[in-house]
Amino acid sequence: MRARVDELRATGRSHALVPTMGALHAGHCALIRRARREAGHVTVSVFVNPTQFGPGEDYLRYPRDLDADRQLLEGLGGVNVIFAPDVNELYPGGREAQRVWVDSPGMSAALCGRHRPGHFRGVLTVVAKLLAICEPQSAVFGLKDIQQYCMIRRMAQDLALPTRIIGIETVREQDGLAISSRNTFLTEDQRAQAPALSRAVWLARELIESGERSAAAVEEAMEQALIKAPLVELQYAEVVGAETLEPVAGLEPGEKVLAAVAVFFDRIRLIDNEIVQVPHVC
Ligand code: PAJ
Repeated sequence: MRARVDELRATGRSHALVPTMGALHAGHCALIRRARREAGHVTVSVFVNPTQFGPGEDYLRYPRDLDADRQLLEGLGGVNVIFAPDVNELYPGGREAQRVWVDSPGMSAALCGRHRPGHFRGVLTVVAKLLAICEPQSAVFGLKDIQQYCMIRRMAQDLALPTRIIGIETVREQDGLAISSRNTFLTEDQRAQAPALSRAVWLARELIESGERSAAAVEEAMEQALIKAPLVELQYAEVVGAETLEPVAGLEPGEKVLAAVAVFFDRIRLIDNEIVQVPHVC
C-alpha cells in the first residue's frame, strides 16, 4: 500500500479511500461511486477491526468473505486497490502493544458510545491508521453511522488531518430499512418488523417539521413507534444536537438536530437516524 501511495504521489493522481469492514452491500457501493467522482484512484479497505468490538459483541461472528467482496468490486468497477491488511499488520503485537489511541471522551459518551464503551476509540484509532497509511485526499463515510461520521470529521478537524471527510446519505431497502451487513442475520419475522426504525426517525422529522418543539415529546413518540413492534428491544431513542451530539431540551428554530435510534432484535443491533433542521414558525 505504501508503495502504491508513493507511485500516486509521483504521478499526482488524486486518491480517495473508502474504509469498510467488508461484507459489502449497496450502501458501500454508493460510497465507492462517490469516491470515484472525487478522485482518479480509489482504494477500498476491508478490515474487520477488532478494537471497535466490545466483549460479547459480534467480532467473531462478523461476516467475512473477501472473495465475494472482490467479485462484487470487480462487477462494480472503478476500484483500483483493495487494501485488506492482516490484524498483525495494523496491530503489531496485538491490542496490548498499542499505547496511543485516538478518542473523544465527550463525543464517545453520547448515543451509541454510551452503550458501547471503547467502540469509538477503536473506530477513530483504526481510521487514523488507515488515513496515515493510505494518505488519501478524501475519505468517504456513510451517514447511516452518523456518530462515527461526526467523530471522524471532528478528528480530522481537531488533529489538522489533510484528508477531506465526505458523508453519504443512507442507502435503504424499498421498505425503508437502512441496508446493513447485520440485516442478513435477521429472521423473517424480525426482518418484517425492522422498518420500525426508519418509521420512528421519519416520525421525528414529521413532528419537528410540523411544529413540535419538545425534544422529550419527540423521543417519547419515537419510543412508542418502536415498541409497537413486539420483537424490538429498545436501546435508545434520542434527539441531540447534530454537531455536538449533546442533549437538547427545547428545539430552537434554525437548529440542526439528530433523531437517532438503536434497537436489538435478539442479539442483532440495528441503528438509524435522521438529521432535521428545526423550521422557523410559519
Ligand atoms: P462498515 O460497517 O463496513 O461500513 C463502512 C462504511 O459504509 C461506513 O462509512 C458506513 O457508514 C457505510 N455504510 C454502511 N451501510 C450504509 C448504508 N446503508 N448507506 C450508506 N452508507 C453505509 O463503519 C465501518 O465499517 C467501520 O466502523 C470502519 C469505518 C470501516 C472502521 O473500522
